Amino acid sequence: VLLRPYNTFGIAAQTRYFAAFTTPDELRELLSAPQFKALPHMILGGGSNVLFTRDFDGVIMKNGIKGIEVVKEDEEYVYVKAGAGENWHGFVMENIKHNRAGLENLSLIPGNVGASPMQNIGAYGVEIKDTFYSLEALHLEELSIVTFNKEECAFGYRESVFKHKYKGQFAILSVTYKLRKQAQFNTSYGAIEAELKEMGVQELSIQAISQAVINIRSSKLPDPAKIGNAGSFFKNPTVSLAEYERIKAAFPNVVAYPVDGGQFKLAAGWLIEQCGWKGYRTGDAGVHAKQALVLVNYGEAKGGEIYGLSQQVLDSVEAKFGVLLEREVNII
Ligand code: FAD
Ligand code: EPU
Repeated sequence: VLLRPYNTFGIAAQTRYFAAFTTPDELRELLSAPQFKALPHMILGGGSNVLFTRDFDGVIMKNGIKGIEVVKEDEEYVYVKAGAGENWHGFVMENIKHNRAGLENLSLIPGNVGASPMQNIGAYGVEIKDTFYSLEALHLEELSIVTFNKEECAFGYRESVFKHKYKGQFAILSVTYKLRKQAQFNTSYGAIEAELKEMGVQELSIQAISQAVINIRSSKLPDPAKIGNAGSFFKNPTVSLAEYERIKAAFPNVVAYPVDGGQFKLAAGWLIEQCGWKGYRTGDAGVHAKQALVLVNYGEAKGGEIYGLSQQVLDSVEAKFGVLLEREVNII
C-alpha cells in the first residue's frame, strides 16, 4: 500500500500491509491475526511527525478511534477524554467552543490526539503536560489496557516514556485533559503579544489567543497540503552556561533563552540559517525559506534524500558551532 496519503512529508514509500481500526477490540483482533503476528508493526496517527526512509516490511495500523466526552467536572476543572484518532486541532477548537481553557496556545498543530503525549507536543509557551491528566493504552504484546497518569508518562521537552522505555510497545487509545473553567492566559511568547496587538484585541480571551497562534503559524510554517513537511525537523538544543558563553563570545547574535537547571536553549533555526541553509534546495528536498528548522519535500523527494539533507545540516551546525542537533521527527 502506498503511504503517500498517510504522511504529511508526502513520501511515496510502501508498506506491506495497512490496516485501520476504530475500536480497541478491532486493534486486538489485528494484533492476534496469524498473518500479522510475526511482522513488525507500527501505529500511525496523522503521519505528521514521521519520515519514511524506506518501505515498511510489516503492518502499519492507523488509529481511527473517535469520540470526545466530558468524564468528570469539579469547581475549577473539566476533564475531557478524546479518542486517539480525533484530529488534534478539531479537539482544541471543540474545547475552545465550550470555554474550556488550556489548549488554546496549541491551536493548529497537525496530527491526532493519540500522538499528543508521544512527544509532549508544545508551542507558544505551552506543552500538553500542563493540562494532561491521563491516558489509556493497549500493550501490543499482552493486549491488556493500561492507564498512565502524568508522572508515569515522564514528559520532557519533546519527550515521553513512549519514545524511550516503552518505544513501540503501546497503542495509545484515548487521552484525558484537565481543562480550566476560568482561563489563565499565557502570552509569554513574544510573537503572541505582538500579534494580539496587530489584531487590535482589547480584551484577552482563549479565542483571541487561539486566533493569534493560528495567524503566526500560518505566516511561517509550510502547509503540508501544499509543501510536504513534518514541522521542526530538529529539536532546539539545550547547552550548559559555559557552552552558551563560548558560543556567545564567538557569535554575539546567537538566539537563546535560559531554561531550568541554569542551562540555555538555542534556537536551532538560527544555527541552521547561519550555516546558509535557509531556502536551500537540492532536487525536491529543501530547507524551508521562512523557517530553517523545517525540512521540506517539494514533490518527489525520497525519504532517504530528506534524511541525507538532514545529516548535512547536522554536520554543518556541528562544524560551525560545536553543537550536535538531535532529530525531532520519528525516522522510520
Ligand atoms: P504520527 O506522525 O502519525 O506519529 C508520530 C509518532 O507517534 C510515530 O512514532 C507513531 O508510531 C506514534 N504514534 C502515533 N499515534 C500513536 C498512538 N495512538 N499510539 C502509539 N503511538 C502512536 N509538533 C509540536 O510539538 N509542536 C508544533 O508546533 C508542531 N508544529 C508542526 C507543524 C507542522 C506544519 C507539522 C507538519 C508538524 C508539526 N508538529 C508539531 C509535529 C506533529 O504535528 C506532532 O508531533 C503531532 O503530535 C504528530 O501527530 P500525528 O498523529 O500526525 O503522529
Ligand atoms: N530563527 C531564525 N531563523 C529561522 C528560524 C528561527 O533565526 O529560520 C530564530 C528566530 O530568532 C526566532 C527563533 O529562532 O525568533 C524561534 O523561532 P520560532 O518562534 O519559529 O520557533 P522555533 O524555536 O523555531 C519551536 C518549536 C515549534 C513551535 C514553535 C513555537 C521546536 C523544535 N520547535 O520552533 O514546534 O511551533 O517553537 O512555539 O521546539 C514542531 O515541533 O514541529 C514545531 C513546529
